[in-house]
Amino acid sequence: MPIIAPSLLAADFLKLDQECTMLNESEADWYHLDVMDGRFVPNISFGPMIIEFIRKATTKVCDVHLMIEEPEKYAEQFKNAGADILTVHVEACRHLHRNIQQIKALGMKAGVAVNPHTPVSGLSDILHDIDLVCLMSVNPGFGGQKFIPYTLDKIKQLRKMIDDSGLKVHIEIDGGVTLENAPSIIAAGADVLVAGNTVFKSTDPKATIRQLKQL
Ligand code: DX5
Ligand code: ZN
Repeated sequence: MPIIAPSLLAADFLKLDQECTMLNESEADWYHLDVMDGRFVPNISFGPMIIEFIRKATTKVCDVHLMIEEPEKYAEQFKNAGADILTVHVEACRHLHRNIQQIKALGMKAGVAVNPHTPVSGLSDILHDIDLVCLMSVNPGFGGQKFIPYTLDKIKQLRKMIDDSGLKVHIEIDGGVTLENAPSIIAAGADVLVAGNTVFKSTDPKATIRQLKQL
């Protein structure tokens, strides 16, 4: 069964309490929390302060996706805010290995995210050090975009790399995941589905999460 990680970016922030209750009662596994700085991506979302509140509202895994420059400056703040998994973008890290070690030393699981244009082959030397690869299936910065189809080839390629090296690294797909395309994403080898609009804009979010979970 896939791990379902609804993205709070699509939630109603005026009703955050109710949105968290809904997720807690649902079969969602993780909370996917998108942090944007207006520099790495052309949008600004929320930071550690909001995550601290969300942390108090759930015991589920807080999967924090940093779309920010210089993530090493903020890793400790996100740890203190309650992040369980901290994912940084390969394109934002000049010293990716050092960033990963920092995240792990702080006691979090470490993830690496790659933009649609970034080849997964470049991850071969870091795979041993990380817990998760977040493959962006849209250009990061906004929810509600269309899934880029060639991501499926990247999933297959990455699945082979991970299996060949006998590692247990999650493959998380982020952007444009729907009930229609999720089966092919899972068939290609992904095991974590991020879903923002598909979950929160659905008329029955809990039922949608259940449907994703049962794929
Ligand atoms: C995009 C974010 C995604 C986004 C996904 O930059 O990283 O997590 O919230 O939203 P949907 O599922 O609506 O494409
Ligand atoms: Zn994300």
